[in-house]
Amino acid sequence: MYIVFEGIDGVGKSTQIQMLAEWLESNGFRVETLVEPTDSEVGKLIRNLLQHPDAQSDKFQKILALLFAADRMMIMDKLEDESKIIISDRSFISSLAYQEPAEWVETLNRYAKKPDLLILLDLDAKKSVARTSGEDTFENVNYLTDVRQNYLKLAENYTHEIIDADKGINKVSSDIKKAVAPYLGICPDCIR
Ligand code: TYD
Repeated sequence: MYIVFEGIDGVGKSTQIQMLAEWLESNGFRVETLVEPTDSEVGKLIRNLLQHPDAQSDKFQKILALLFAADRMMIMDKLEDESKIIISDRSFISSLAYQEPAEWVETLNRYAKKPDLLILLDLDAKKSVARTSGEDTFENVNYLTDVRQNYLKLAENYTHEIIDADKGINKVSSDIKKAVAPYLGICPDCIR
C-alpha cells in the first residue's frame, strides 16, 4: 500500500508520518518512509534552489517543476515493493498543488504513481506560516492559501482522508490512525 501525506508547509507531515509508521510497525506491518524532495543529487539541487531569493519567481517555479518530476522518477522503483506499507512525505500531488500551469505539470508527472490513500493535513495558511520560520507576509499567506485550496480540490481525484491539523499532535495522530485503520483491516478498538 502506498500512502501519501500532503499539506502546505508547517502542517506537521513529518511528525505525523513518524507516529503513524511506529504505530503500524507495532501492529506488525513492515513500513518504509520516503520524503520528497529525496536525498538524490537532484533532490539536493532542489533544496539549494528553494533557498534562492527568486525561488518563487515564475522561471524558478518552472525549473523546480522539472526537477521535482525528475527527482520522483528516481524513486519510482521503490514504490513497487508490495511487501511493505510505503508512506511518503509529499508526492506529485505537491507539484500539482504548488506549480503551474496545471496541464503541463500533469504531463510532466504522467508516470508518477498514484497513491492508494492520500492523507491531506489541512490547516489555515496563517497558522501554518506561524509554525514555520516563514515570513508572515501577506504574499506568503496568500500563496499558501491558494495552495491549500488547490489541495482540497485535488484530493477529490484520489481515495483520500482530510485531517484537521489544528487539533494538537496526539489528537491529529489518533485521527490519522482512525482514518487509516479501515484500509488495513485494523480493528478500530485497537486505536488509542
Ligand atoms: P518540504 O521539504 O516538505 O518542506 P519543509 O522544508 O517544510 O520540510 O518541501 C520543500 C518545499 O518544496 C515545500 O515548500 C513544498 C515544495 N514542493 C513543491 O513546490 N513541489 C513539489 O513537487 C514538492 C515535492 C515540494
